[in-house]
Amino acid sequence: MKKRLLITRLLPPAIEARAARDYDALLNPEDRPRSTAEILRLAEGCDAVLCSPTDSFDADAIDALPASVKVLGTFSVGYDHIDLDATRARGLEVVNTPDVLSVATAELAFLLILAAARRAGEGERMVRAGRWSGWAPTQLLGTQVSGKRLGIFGMGRIGRELARMARGFDLEVHYRDLTRLPPELEGNAIWHGDDAGFLGECDILSLNAPGGATTQHWLNADRIALLPPGAVVVNAARGALVDDGALIAALRSGHVASAGLDVYEGEPALNPGYLRLENVVLLPHLGSNTTETRDAMGNIVLDGIDAVLHGRRPANRVT
Ligand code: DGY
Repeated sequence: MKKRLLITRLLPPAIEARAARDYDALLNPEDRPRSTAEILRLAEGCDAVLCSPTDSFDADAIDALPASVKVLGTFSVGYDHIDLDATRARGLEVVNTPDVLSVATAELAFLLILAAARRAGEGERMVRAGRWSGWAPTQLLGTQVSGKRLGIFGMGRIGRELARMARGFDLEVHYRDLTRLPPELEGNAIWHGDDAGFLGECDILSLNAPGGATTQHWLNADRIALLPPGAVVVNAARGALVDDGALIAALRSGHVASAGLDVYEGEPALNPGYLRLENVVLLPHLGSNTTETRDAMGNIVLDGIDAVLHGRRPANRVT
């Protein structure tokens, strides 16, 4: 008999086809986020749940999951929506989607860097609104990206991929992480063990660290003050890394020249202050949104679920 798998969101067709072939799969054709109560009800009798970052699995939800559920897979590399203390306490395995989205997400971070530094959002809005009166020598002057100093906060897989891409733009890469990377991963990037030394080198700051309690509002007013005047800030990681009020104030004063954001604390809601600013590029959490990547994410998370349900150790186990 096939094992039963609850999938909380609409997934790419190839992934749903694989799930339907291998499992008694409960799909979500409407693609509306389900409430926790609904997920818990549907999970009754399921062996596994494949969730997404829009589902919150706090300690209460984990405790309330039916005992039949042995593994929780998340269609994301981030797992700040899952209380891992609760999953560990219950012996529930968690698998995610590492590696396969690093290129797509780093590309998106690079897009934000270029768009913010070169004022692409403002230009696009000007053209669409019929406000463009033609080329002018001083129109929408941005900041050149090539040859500048790029600071990466969080030098995991995505941060390292961004550092690799940065070489093509001749950027000097600095990074802040808890520990220094081994030489084969570090390349030419320069490690900083303290915030002040790091932030002072960031003509461009890219946030690439995981979300969660330890990085909550890491980019606050005190740290923003350590950036060189006119810095560019981008975030393709998690919205909660940023103290929005502090960033909005710095964008207003010009201390931060421009920002590019793909993620927001409490998304899809966002601080309305951003909407009133011209010098911020706002995207709707597009980091891993490529056809190739979303298929790869679906396959790796299903591989992990398969492994757990067949008594093997999954390569993508979240510890
Ligand atoms: C992730 O994987 O954590 C992204 O934020 C969603 O693709």
